[in-house]
Amino acid sequence: MKSFSDVEMAPADPIFGLNVAFQSDQRPNKVNLGVGVYRDGDLKTPLLHSVQEAEERLAKEHQARSYLPIDGDRRYAEALTSLVFGPALEKKVYCAQTPGGTAALRVAGDFLFQVLHHTTIHLPTPTWENHRNVFVSSGLQIAAYSYYDHRAHELLMEPLLADLEKIPMGECVLFHASCQNPTGVDPTPEQWKKIAQVVKVRNLLPLFDCAYQGFGEGLEEDVAAMRLFAKEGIPLLAAYSCSKNFGLYAERVGALFAFFPQEEALKRLGSQMCRLIRSNYSNPPCHGAWVVQAILGDAKLRLEWEQELTKMRQRIHQMRHALMESLMGKGKKGFAFLQRQKGLFSFSGLEQPQVERLKSEYGVYMTNSGRINVAGLNEKNLEYVVGAICAVL
Ligand code: LMR
Repeated sequence: MKSFSDVEMAPADPIFGLNVAFQSDQRPNKVNLGVGVYRDGDLKTPLLHSVQEAEERLAKEHQARSYLPIDGDRRYAEALTSLVFGPALEKKVYCAQTPGGTAALRVAGDFLFQVLHHTTIHLPTPTWENHRNVFVSSGLQIAAYSYYDHRAHELLMEPLLADLEKIPMGECVLFHASCQNPTGVDPTPEQWKKIAQVVKVRNLLPLFDCAYQGFGEGLEEDVAAMRLFAKEGIPLLAAYSCSKNFGLYAERVGALFAFFPQEEALKRLGSQMCRLIRSNYSNPPCHGAWVVQAILGDAKLRLEWEQELTKMRQRIHQMRHALMESLMGKGKKGFAFLQRQKGLFSFSGLEQPQVERLKSEYGVYMTNSGRINVAGLNEKNLEYVVGAICAVL
């Protein structure tokens, strides 16, 4: 047993810790390319107009704030299920509203460990820095499968398939639905088909992490892999975040989905999810989910939101392209691979000592893995960042 005075300092969070360091940096030309938050051309995280309008409508309705059900608002769950899985599959999906995608991952981890009695989860190498923490907290052991070729800057498709083949039958494998965090490299539709076949044959249980729907190619394209697996009849879990695509980061809006072809089992799955949620955060908050529901349930707001999402996606594409062009223009021809990456992040290939120098000498912040949030770039800071990168290469 320890007393308060024996408690050691926990290590800084590899992503949020960067924000703290960035805030205390006094240099005027500092640049934050760390945490995965979208920023507009003025480097501000926008409050979407569709969100503002939904909030104005909600404010007029003066809804009471009694507890939501343990698994959240049912209208939100239905609207989001339809957005993610589409009409052909939505009846075979259970959805629990969760406080963000991280809580969904944690409930999924608890479900795997406590209900399905899994001992291990298989994560891609590399993956989101927080996955390990979340699943270890659920009691799972972490195993890794091959994903990314650091030299060629592309998917390690054959080793990935070979690793999946070796996973014991029935175990859980985490996939990023799209815009893989941190690499920005996703399997092609053809590659997903091959992955789905191995998953099906080996009876593996996929857990999709879907935090960027609409940030890669489009609303439909970015969930196509999950839909493909479901159409193949593969039971799956999916953790979903509305943080990025609705710009509702601090509202903590997310969902945990379970797809199962035999509808009659969904009620039982849901009852176990509710049991786990009740002992964790009891039930989710209402405001953000009501905003999302108001947008998805209204044709005008939904159209506006889709247009705003398209603009965010286009700016990300432009900034990634500008970064690549500028680096190549400075003779760094090896950066052509950036163009193949998708979503908020560019996986630069910069190594930790270079990342450290960028931070200490130039005030340019990115995660230790060399992951760059391209939305942290704009016309004003791009050349400065490119100059700093060239200087440390
Ligand atoms: C990120 O990867 O930077 C984001 O998903 C934010 C987070 O929670 O880490």
